[in-house]
Amino acid sequence: MGTDGVRRVERPKAAARAIYDRLSRRYDLLAGTAERKPREAALDLLAPVAGETILEIGCGTGYALSRLARAVGDTGMVHGLDLSRGMLEVARRRLVDAGLADRVSLRVGDGATLPYPDSAYDAVFMSFTLELFDTPEIPLVLAECRRVLRPGGRLAVVALSRKCKGSLSRAMVGLYEWFHERLPGYVDCRPIYIDDALTASGFEVKDRRPMGMWGLPVEAVVGFVHG
Ligand SMILES: C[S@@+](CC[C@H](N)C(=O)[O-])C[C@H]1O[C@@H](n2cnc3c(N)ncnc32)[C@H](O)[C@@H]1O
Repeated sequence: MGTDGVRRVERPKAAARAIYDRLSRRYDLLAGTAERKPREAALDLLAPVAGETILEIGCGTGYALSRLARAVGDTGMVHGLDLSRGMLEVARRRLVDAGLADRVSLRVGDGATLPYPDSAYDAVFMSFTLELFDTPEIPLVLAECRRVLRPGGRLAVVALSRKCKGSLSRAMVGLYEWFHERLPGYVDCRPIYIDDALTASGFEVKDRRPMGMWGLPVEAVVGFVHG
């Protein structure tokens, strides 16, 4: 555990890949409904527009990719990166079914070492993914986001938050962390301090939206790279 109480995520990347490959066909059933509202709120904060080039890290089964692809229209482009081939396969089918596959490029890769050039994106999006990276890796992921964003570009993150409001959310965070420590193969992420992480990595946080999911605090945050 760090001095700020944030738990570590010590499983290897290969284990994360195996978890999500195994979960991929059932992921939408297990998590899709609960995560939908916070994900939509974060997409509202990101406010994608026609013609933009946008990257989603940890794009999973592609819910956000389809909304991003609709928003950027046929003059824009969306890139989806994920560690798990299984999750990307579900995303690919969703995009083909929606007739959006030509606006989205999917790639297997690690968010800590982005396989994209500098200043290539207007915006980067992450939904329930930043809190999967181990504590020392979070600044590396955010530095990679800054590198691939153009000056003035923006990053929107929605994640489990450690900023508790009241005793119920504190108890739920405690319970969640208890499970995370004992069952890291099932509860692989943990609540983090999202806006502090963005600020420490040089983003100017412009907006935050605190929410809840199963009694746990969730927060959507948007930060900008200085132009
Ligand atoms: C909790 S799921 C969220 C999926 C999607 N963003 C959503 O909101 O439905 C986390 C996703 O991050 C991916 N992931 C985990 N570690 C990653 C890494 N190091 N780099 C890129 N993606 C990663 C997983 O494979 C999974 O698809």
